[in-house]
Amino acid sequence: MGKCTACGQWNTFVEEIIEKPSGSVPNWQSSASTSLQRANKPSAIQDIVYTEENRLITPDKELNRVLGGGIVGGSLVLIGGEPGIGKSTLMLQIAMALPGKILYVSGEESSQQVKMRAERLSPLPPEGGKVQTARSGSEVFILTETSTQNIFKQIEILEPTIVIVDSIQTLHSSHIESTPGSVSQVRECTAELLRFAKETATPVFLIGHITKDGMIAGPKILEHMVDTVLQFEGDRHHMYRILRTVKNRFGPAAELGIYEMQGSGLREVSNPSEILLSQREEPLSGITISAMLEGMRPMLIETQALVSISAYGTPQRSATGFDTKRMNMLLAVLEKRCGFKLSVKDVFLNIAGGLRVEDPAIDLGVIVAIISSHEDMPISTKICFAAEVGLSGEIRAVNRIEQRIAEAEKLGFEQIYISKYNKKGLDESRYKLEIKTVAKVDEVFAALFG
Ligand code: TYD
Ligand code: MG
Repeated sequence: MGKCTACGQWNTFVEEIIEKPSGSVPNWQSSASTSLQRANKPSAIQDIVYTEENRLITPDKELNRVLGGGIVGGSLVLIGGEPGIGKSTLMLQIAMALPGKILYVSGEESSQQVKMRAERLSPLPPEGGKVQTARSGSEVFILTETSTQNIFKQIEILEPTIVIVDSIQTLHSSHIESTPGSVSQVRECTAELLRFAKETATPVFLIGHITKDGMIAGPKILEHMVDTVLQFEGDRHHMYRILRTVKNRFGPAAELGIYEMQGSGLREVSNPSEILLSQREEPLSGITISAMLEGMRPMLIETQALVSISAYGTPQRSATGFDTKRMNMLLAVLEKRCGFKLSVKDVFLNIAGGLRVEDPAIDLGVIVAIISSHEDMPISTKICFAAEVGLSGEIRAVNRIEQRIAEAEKLGFEQIYISKYNKKGLDESRYKLEIKTVAKVDEVFAALFG
């Protein structure tokens, strides 16, 4: 067949030869036979006994948070990220901090390379905060192998409590005749590991590479197969790395863990606001602070804007860590609703710390930063913002306002600008900081710039 009937593309068909499993393969590899033997019957939902998943609480609090409270037995977790972001470092570090027998399958690096990396890593401080040098009751085994059949053979001998695979793209199964990393191989290897995880209740972590455009065959097609998808991201030139929950069958999605990449591995960052706010004595123009929310976690983040006269015909607009389309929309609002002549200006926007922000609550902070730079009037370092801006210049309410206000207060801010529509049900007497409620962008400018 030349043309695919499903997607309409030409010459996209790939031949897959599926071999019959031969000899004594562990039962999680022969899908056809097991599924026939154990045909399930339907059971009434009220008869199903539910037991609380037993979770393994890891010493890494950021990991516990993104997994929804620890590692669930028998779960398959995919950790995706661009090459070089630190996935292997993170997993090795976690492996070394976990109790029990951990099998680290490395298909990319030799055992010497893994050992060298392990030497660099300082162990995570345990609960008490004291650095522990020798881990008690923890054993990490490194296996350099890419054939799933051989990996399962070793697993049967070793009986690990947790399996880590680095990376899923390097594995191949002899049941399928195509190159490692191809869609069919990646899918088959994941399916085998999934059956293994479910039947033995062993948690399995898979590392998967995603390229910048996210298009490569690999992790994207696996997202529906695995229980949890974590995305490890960050700017390679910044120290901060973010572990984000994209999907989680055992807890809330959109959770977030923050790490800092150091010479000796990754360090957990428990108070993100402190690192996201730059240390400065006097206020500078073009800088504002917004109270944003990532997942369930409130944090304060700095927005920097620079507005200057365009040297060339077409003004430049560029944003780092913020959606450029959204910035253009906010600029249009400022131009049309407030009469600022920004169409002849270059506008640059930067979110501090290399973070990518999607929370609309930083809109107000963004427009105030732009006008502050445009007017060259600094905003006090004691003021922060939390509101969305609509197309007609109205200030909209955002979710979880109490959490944002509480975080701002905790960090010593004296004033917060929020939407008038967030005021309902808000007990202002609980807070020491002054809550300014506004309905239109003009009101904000009048209050700040006179
Ligand atoms: P790595 O875990 O190999 O990335 P991935 O598995 O996602 O491809 O880590 C890559 C980078 O991390 C590498 O450029 C060096 C840096 N690094 C540190 O800064 N400190 C460390 O302690 C380690 C082990 C790595
Ligand atoms: Mg790696």
